[in-house]
Amino acid sequence: MAAPTMEPELAEAHMRGLLAGLGLDVEYVRGEGDTLYYRDRDGTETAVLDLVGGYGTLIFGHNHPDLVALARDLLAKRVPLHAQFSYHPYANELAAALNRVLHREFGIDEPYSAVFANSGAEGIETAMKHAELDRVIRVGELHAAVEADIAAARAAVADGTATVSAEARARLGVTDGVDFDAVVSEIARHNAEVLGRGPVFLTLEGSFHGKLAGSVQLTHNAGYRAPFRALAAQARFVPVDQPGALASVLAEERVALLAPVVVDGQVTLAERDFPAIGAFFVEPVQGEGGIHVLSPELAAEIRAAADSAGFPVVVDEVQSGMGRTGRFFSASGIGLLGDYFVLAKGLGGGIAKTAALLVRQSRYRSDFELVHSSTFAKDALSCHIGIKVVEMLEADDGAAYRLAVERGGRLRRELDAVAAEFPDVVAAVRGRGLMLGIEFHDLTGSTSEVLRDNARAGLIGYLVAGYLLREQSIRVFPTASAAHTLRVEPSLAISDEAIEQFGRALRALCAIIGKADGMALLPN
Ligand code: F0G
Repeated sequence: MAAPTMEPELAEAHMRGLLAGLGLDVEYVRGEGDTLYYRDRDGTETAVLDLVGGYGTLIFGHNHPDLVALARDLLAKRVPLHAQFSYHPYANELAAALNRVLHREFGIDEPYSAVFANSGAEGIETAMKHAELDRVIRVGELHAAVEADIAAARAAVADGTATVSAEARARLGVTDGVDFDAVVSEIARHNAEVLGRGPVFLTLEGSFHGKLAGSVQLTHNAGYRAPFRALAAQARFVPVDQPGALASVLAEERVALLAPVVVDGQVTLAERDFPAIGAFFVEPVQGEGGIHVLSPELAAEIRAAADSAGFPVVVDEVQSGMGRTGRFFSASGIGLLGDYFVLAKGLGGGIAKTAALLVRQSRYRSDFELVHSSTFAKDALSCHIGIKVVEMLEADDGAAYRLAVERGGRLRRELDAVAAEFPDVVAAVRGRGLMLGIEFHDLTGSTSEVLRDNARAGLIGYLVAGYLLREQSIRVFPTASAAHTLRVEPSLAISDEAIEQFGRALRALCAIIGKADGMALLPN
């Protein structure tokens, strides 16, 4: 469908080939609301109902007129796009606006400081870095306290007011008489091993937090992550459906520094819990992993674990935030207050590329500002658009949030109806608000070779997407790590007609899959 080009293909030619094989290599030339337009070979524009929504970025659709007008106006006024290392009042205004929403939705009043970035993965890595700075400072404080314990014990032993207990000697394997240095050196050996450890990040199975060198370690799909394991600190993936799984991971990761303490004339060994966990990253609704809503029970377990062990909870609202689930912070719907929040995607209104990390004041390390920056972050254009996005969501006492619930409900009824009509084809409908997924039954054992082979290759969702685009003029994609699930993330303005069009298209698709007629899904 794409126009022929005379240039050699140098921009991801391999990907282009894959797209072409499925009939997905379309060049869109215009976008408005939930519609994208491509040009046919004869030059006529064809409209496509876009339910991908920029993977959840387009809560206001493509090129919302108010956002376009603002961007044009800012450029016409020659707003300085590059004014690094100066005062950015608009960044402060956006941070304040986000704080007002956060305070209302969670019923709290603690300020959250904002650090800006340019993409979701960068926002996540900003959170990883901040958490690590915080952890390193806490490790330093703990280490200093242990050194003070050692000095006090040494003094007590030297002036004869204390002796090393037999129990401490036995634990350290120090058998020779009275040499306190031998005791200290065993303690130091143990502590050095612990102090040399990097952080362990926790997240849930099925999570997706980005594909950069650090953030990809938090992304569960091994296909994305495994080749890059050596690049950064590792994550542990906590199973979602296993009660007690989090507690056992925490028990396994628990390590302590040893400190000599003088009690009743005896030097005994105390354990000082070491901050081994960098942070717990969590999506309130997993997007790329198949549209799974986090349960309030697991959310509460994560919050309690973090409170008792002292690590921060980083709520990744990159996809689920900015109104899509009927609240600005979808985590507020399950009562999960993050120590950090990461916002991106929709914050830029579908126009700017921007991200924000919010860190609660009680955990914020202002020194972070001296060691972290980006040429492009915190720019006037993105901040002004971000302010407008918040304004648009908050207008009329939150009409946009109510609309997300209402439109999401209408869409959900359509998907549920299709699922009820084709129970042998549709396995589940999941999600919240305008972040929905429809999962097909496993087709790896289908009698159709096309369905079977594509399902085994993890491509069934893309095969289906190609059919829906070519035959039904609908753009929709699978969640990349759960290829049997299509995700549906339209804008607030999605019309009844569009939802009905999607319903008809899904019924046609389900009929084909029900007949195991895989050939009907292939391009001609
Ligand atoms: N966190 C979440 C929850 C995401 O969904 C994404 C991206 C990111 C972080 C990274 O953001 O792409 O701006 O660097 N999700 C896309 C998806 C890729 O398929 O859902 P990014």
